[in-house]
Amino acid sequence: MLTSALSIKGVSRSFGGVLAVDDVSFEVAEGSLCALIGPNGAGKTTLFNAVTNIFPPTTGNVTCFGHALRDMEAASIARLGLIRTFQSARVFPGMTVLENVLAGGHLRTRSNPLAQMFYLPSARRDESRLRKKAEALLDLIGLSHMAEVAATDLPMGAQKTLEVARALMAEPRLLLLDEPAAGLNDTETAEIANLLCAIRDAGATILVVEHNMSLVMGIADHVVVLDAGRVIADGTPGEVQADRRVIEAYIGMEG
Ligand SMILES: Nc1ncnc2c1ncn2[C@@H]1O[C@H](COP(=O)(O)OP(=O)(O)OP(=O)(O)O)[C@@H](O)[C@H]1O
Ligand SMILES: [Mg+2]
Repeated sequence: MLTSALSIKGVSRSFGGVLAVDDVSFEVAEGSLCALIGPNGAGKTTLFNAVTNIFPPTTGNVTCFGHALRDMEAASIARLGLIRTFQSARVFPGMTVLENVLAGGHLRTRSNPLAQMFYLPSARRDESRLRKKAEALLDLIGLSHMAEVAATDLPMGAQKTLEVARALMAEPRLLLLDEPAAGLNDTETAEIANLLCAIRDAGATILVVEHNMSLVMGIADHVVVLDAGRVIADGTPGEVQADRRVIEAYIGMEG
């Protein structure tokens, strides 16, 4: 039996009269790349918000590496290694590419705030360690030559990759990505796909919301399909693609 990185059990979330997530249960195995798909308004982002307690579940339970997340604050959840990106988030304006990546690393500073304030040797060591790591990540995503450029001057594809690199600075054990390839062209999408596979192969677990079917079906180990707040399919890419309810949900969306 595989260990679960994330276990979602009977989670519901309503907003007023709208039941946006309705009794959702599934597991994300440690070290796997799991895709969460479904038509617009299916409840995918709401589920991410429920898992990370931004809009906590109305009912149900979530555990991450065996820790119950109920009542946990965002910073404590991040310290467990659960790091997410936001669907509408962009790079931080007014900061360079390198500074954007560095901003993801504040969780992992080892020196205490006092040492940082007085710039003691422990704080200096932290800074050079984080900088090396940020530079290595920029190298990984092929943006080293843009390190000193204003992040908002990058093309959209590079900005999306930069967001993933920023999340990696926090050393995630479980990475939740909300539409990392939205608005990207085919080449940029293929680059994101390679990056996600590299992250998984380095040992992290990924749960990714994505509309691009060829991306999802090409790289996911496991696919969960939401429709109108409920799980309608949960299996391998092949199983899910052949599922009548999934086909109907997508044809319904297009019609
Ligand atoms: N903060 C909120 N307040 C009220 N209703 C909300 C809120 N967040 C989401 N909803 C509603 O919950 C439902 C699910 O929305 P959600 O954003 O989770 O869908 P999604 O699957 O992420 O869609 P998309 O693919 O378009 O991003 C929608 O009916 C939406 O209007
Ligand atoms: Mg969404």
